[in-house]
Amino acid sequence: MDSSYMLSKELARKMILVHPPEPRKELLLSSPSNGVYVGKTRFLRTPVFWNPGKLINPHIAVLGITGSGKSYTVKTFLTRASLIWNTNAIIIDWVGEYGEWVRQAGGRVINLAKERLNILDLVGLPKRSRIKQLVSALDILVDLKSFPDERDEIEDALEHVYNRRGKKKPHLLDVVKLLEQRGKKKAARLIKRFTEEGTDFFAGSSTLDIKKLTTSGLVSIDLHQLPTEEMRSLAGLTILQYIKELMRAEGMKQDHGHVRLFVVLDEAWKISQDERSDVISIVREGRKYNFSLIIATQNPTDMHKTIFSNIGTVFVLRMILREYRDYLRKSIGYSDFLDTEISKFGVGDAAVNMIFSERQSKVMTFLMDKIDGEEPLLIYKIKGGNMMVEIEREQFVRMLYELGLNESQLSLLKSEFEKGDGLLEGEQLVAVLEKFGYSRPSIISFLRQLGIDEKNLVRIFSLVKMRKATKGVVNVVLEDSNG
Ligand SMILES: Nc1ncnc2c1ncn2[C@@H]1O[C@H](COP(=O)(O)OP(=O)(O)OP(=O)(O)O)[C@@H](O)[C@H]1O
Ligand SMILES: [Mg+2]
Repeated sequence: MDSSYMLSKELARKMILVHPPEPRKELLLSSPSNGVYVGKTRFLRTPVFWNPGKLINPHIAVLGITGSGKSYTVKTFLTRASLIWNTNAIIIDWVGEYGEWVRQAGGRVINLAKERLNILDLVGLPKRSRIKQLVSALDILVDLKSFPDERDEIEDALEHVYNRRGKKKPHLLDVVKLLEQRGKKKAARLIKRFTEEGTDFFAGSSTLDIKKLTTSGLVSIDLHQLPTEEMRSLAGLTILQYIKELMRAEGMKQDHGHVRLFVVLDEAWKISQDERSDVISIVREGRKYNFSLIIATQNPTDMHKTIFSNIGTVFVLRMILREYRDYLRKSIGYSDFLDTEISKFGVGDAAVNMIFSERQSKVMTFLMDKIDGEEPLLIYKIKGGNMMVEIEREQFVRMLYELGLNESQLSLLKSEFEKGDGLLEGEQLVAVLEKFGYSRPSIISFLRQLGIDEKNLVRIFSLVKMRKATKGVVNVVLEDSNG
């Protein structure tokens, strides 16, 4: 046989080995205002943008062992998405690992243990529908279907407390009490676990406005301080039920490609496994309403198959267990080569499966170099008199450059902010700028530019004066760092 032929055949084989196929460039590329950048493909180094307009649906799964980078991927993704689209996101945070990041990114953290959630709230639903939802939540959480008598008794008790006359809104505790009065001990016991002694989390009037939260930018709902796993699950399910209702009530949106709300479930296996869970409704109907589900888990077999078949994007991070990889491979399909690579991944390495809506495009899993991480967006706060100005760090730095600060002055000022965990008193800022040699008028015009109004300017400067008179702390601090 011709040796050159051998060579080229060999070469071709090798080429495939070093370069498995990647999706066409035009599928992966998007303008930065239409897609979320996640990193580059491993071989052709094509930038990968997540663009819901090009994908079959806006849902995302992130899979991988502990420490593989799931939460990091989600955070990076949401940071960029909120920059581009100003999107809203609700993170159901099982273990409380998003709080710090959400705060830094300027979002809101809600510690559910400090709130009240009355799961009997109707949130605009007819009583019948809400009762059905509650029973279905209990089907999932306490397997109520296996106790048909108790199921009927509970349903009956729910109806009864809803129909009671009086101004007081019914609570779960009323249901327990009623069941006990009626001598339905077993039924009472089944729901009593959600009204634990010492916690009245589900008992008071709701302090949360879920509707408002779905339009409040980045919000993390921290469940981890709730006393039991069961309460976390019921809270998680309830919030998802509310979100689903809101989604349906808001109706469809035509503007394609703009996600209205990301719903993030990280390690919420208990509520994503069950067919009756609203995770399934959100994933099934979300596309119509521009609601996107992001689900992260260590164990892909935890995800109900309906969820899998409705997910347009899967990020596969390091996955060691053969059993999990096999399940995944059956669900999304990829080569032996990729399978081996996935088992060898380091932190942040990823294989991505995207299903594009374009007809001819093949479903394809491809390798990424790494999830290209994003530093959280930092917000600086300046307290001036009785107002608080918030400004994105990068923008603030740009303004300072324009003002004429040099590198070392900038880093000095930054470290002042960092000492205060991102907060600096207006009078401190003034003192620093004066120290750098800025005149009173130019400082005033800078503060105005930051949005501080006249009244508060006066307050700030009278504080500056006072501090000077008493040889304020500011000067002392500055002495050693400005040397
Ligand atoms: N793409 C990446 N680039 C750089 N660092 C990363 C990347 N992904 C993850 N890391 C770092 O690796 C560590 C683990 O990541 P992360 O917490 O996201 O893992 P996880 O998969 O969510 O783990 P767990 O299942 O335990 O929650 C973090 O310190 C994170 O900063
Ligand atoms: Mg995590």
